[in-house]
Amino acid sequence: MAKTIAVLGLGIIGSRAADCLRKDGHLVRCWNRTPMDREDICDTAVEACAGSDFVALYLKDGIAVREVFEKIKPSLNPQQVVLNHSTIDLETTNWLHAQCQEVGCGFLDSPFTGSKVAAGEGSLVYYVGGDKETLVLSHPVLEATSKEIKHLGPVGSATIVKLATNLISASTVQALSEALAITKSHGIDSKVFTESVLSNACGSVLAKMKLPTMADGDYDTHFSMENMLKDSRFALKLADDAGIDLPGIRTTSECMQNRCEKGDARLDFSALFKAYE
Ligand SMILES: NC(=O)c1ccc[n+]([C@@H]2O[C@H](COP(=O)([O-])OP(=O)(O)OC[C@H]3O[C@@H](n4cnc5c(N)ncnc54)[C@H](OP(=O)(O)O)[C@@H]3O)[C@@H](O)[C@H]2O)c1
Repeated sequence: MAKTIAVLGLGIIGSRAADCLRKDGHLVRCWNRTPMDREDICDTAVEACAGSDFVALYLKDGIAVREVFEKIKPSLNPQQVVLNHSTIDLETTNWLHAQCQEVGCGFLDSPFTGSKVAAGEGSLVYYVGGDKETLVLSHPVLEATSKEIKHLGPVGSATIVKLATNLISASTVQALSEALAITKSHGIDSKVFTESVLSNACGSVLAKMKLPTMADGDYDTHFSMENMLKDSRFALKLADDAGIDLPGIRTTSECMQNRCEKGDARLDFSALFKAYE
């Protein structure tokens, strides 16, 4: 049955998710901090949420989520469900859950994996933390933008898993950059190297996606350097809280910070390779 969905945050993913929801027959009401020219755009987040069954957040980070939620909170009601798809820190996930409990509305901790292309095709994969009843209620909405929905446990579990998997992706792209740098500098053709990696156990979907574009110096943004940097910091905070040292992602995080300081914040995070160009 068609639902009314407020989509807040129309960046790389939110704009495409909103299109998929509309194509699936839902009534979509969007809002973005920077005004945008779209048929379904509302002037304020409160206006977008009015009368909606679901509020889907595709915002940058914890700061954005807190700012936007504080604006919409007084207008929310217990019949609504808030779906947070932004990758945020665990503290903000728990804060958002508590805020929704105060309102009496449903809440799912539901970050995703899949990038610009997957979002355009409606084939994201959601990691979900929350109760089963809210997930069952939200299923038709999540399905419209995804190919898989994985229920991981209570609120917080999806945030933790999402940050852990991004730790792997950031570290992998740093490793690919280093490997591409040494092979190139010793005269190995980048196509030969890419094919060799893909025949190796270390080959991965990420390597297949990123190595050819890195070798071509194409850093068209699918997932930005600044967003991967924030996620590395959230992962480091999880480690800190658990008393664990993570030297690998700490170094990669510093490399991403260097690239951001050099003006590459809005490029794809595979621009880590620019350090070796
Ligand atoms: N792209 C990917 O491949 C990918 C994959 C997995 C997870 N994610 C996560 O999904 C979320 C969205 O990703 P994205 O790639 O779409 O990011 P993005 O293109 O950087 O878009 C970020 C969105 O957040 C808004 N925003 C930022 N700060 C705000 C604030 N203080 N108040 C209100 N709105 C604010 C931006 O609005 P403005 O237009 O006004 O700046 C924009 O709509 C992020 O948490 C990201 O880490 C992304």
